[in-house]
Amino acid sequence: MSFDFDTPIDRRGSDSLKWSRYAGRDVVPLWVADMDFAAPPAVLDALHHRIDHGVFGYAKAWPSLMEAVQDHLQGEYGWQIEPSWIVWIPGVVAAFNVACRAVGGTGAGVFTTTPVYPPFLTAPEHSGRHLVTLPLVRNGRRWQWDFAATDKALAESRARLWLLCHPHNPVGRVWNEDELQEIARLAEKHDLVVCSDEIHCGLVLDPATKHKPLAALSPAMAKRTITLMAPSKTFNIPALYSAFAVIPDPALRRAFSRVMDGIMPHINTLGLVATEAAYRDCGEWHGALIDYLRGNARRVEETVATMPGLSVTPVEATYLAWIDCRELCAAKGIDNPQRFFEKAGVGLSDGCDFGLPSFVRLNFGCPRATLDEGLARMAAAINALP
Ligand SMILES: Cc1ncc(COP(=O)(O)O)c(C=O)c1O
Repeated sequence: MSFDFDTPIDRRGSDSLKWSRYAGRDVVPLWVADMDFAAPPAVLDALHHRIDHGVFGYAKAWPSLMEAVQDHLQGEYGWQIEPSWIVWIPGVVAAFNVACRAVGGTGAGVFTTTPVYPPFLTAPEHSGRHLVTLPLVRNGRRWQWDFAATDKALAESRARLWLLCHPHNPVGRVWNEDELQEIARLAEKHDLVVCSDEIHCGLVLDPATKHKPLAALSPAMAKRTITLMAPSKTFNIPALYSAFAVIPDPALRRAFSRVMDGIMPHINTLGLVATEAAYRDCGEWHGALIDYLRGNARRVEETVATMPGLSVTPVEATYLAWIDCRELCAAKGIDNPQRFFEKAGVGLSDGCDFGLPSFVRLNFGCPRATLDEGLARMAAAINALP
């Protein structure tokens, strides 16, 4: 079966957050992390079927759904989980805010590395916790950890929780087994719970790279890990708000569920229906998507390499490219590259929001023609500079 990712679907004038930001303006929106593709046919069929039933009472996860999740995690990542470890959540951001409240007391530290998806930086303070950050390091073509500095930061802070982004938004790394082992070693040494946001785990582009859930490293690591996953990014259904936490340790799971009580709504039934279909029936679509996104990633990497003052590291996972504009900014006196490119008709995400100015994030989860138009506008804007 072939799938069409090339033909643009007009999202202007729809409910799209991404496109409505630039309503009435000639700006190609390559910012917020959803894709401009329709959901997989099997997801659409399952949703139609459920809507035809006509009754939308309160929902509860059912056995074939639980089985689809278990089989998916086993098949994709070799991770065997028990159904009782799953806590359904209406969104991953909400869940890492819950994790902040469930671990440590008022004022306890929450550790994360920058740059990072912006809600990592705000969740701790929303929860009466104290944010502790450390920069990731760009080493040529790769973003890496400074583990000696991490060890020191954990020793000096009162951090009880580590918010990990794996694969990482925005730098696009899939943390490898050695890096995960080191994260696990430090979490144990300093006695931290790790909340591992693995929402992008289905978007590994590099065929030689495999996603490994942090909790799958060892039973000891599983005990101190809250893993957050969702079909939302991979199958492009984020507004259906269906996600889940996998929490093997009963006491940690109880603490997490207690914080949710009365505040977090149940997941809507359409989200659950879509989750089952996505995990069980969309393997072929998923493979085709990854091939297409890999092509887009290479297009971004090759084109950015021709733009003076810009550089980008290879994207191992996600449909997000983290573009280093520091040289351009310094050479041309540009203080905010997001605004510079927006004026030139390309809507990117601003590195400042991720804790690192002079960078922009480009979402290439779109038809190639849309991407090419955005890249051409960026190149033209740079070439037109005096
Ligand atoms: C790393 C990461 N976590 C969470 C989210 C959002 O999750 P949700 O929409 O389920 O709250 C995103 C969206 O871009 C993300 O990149």
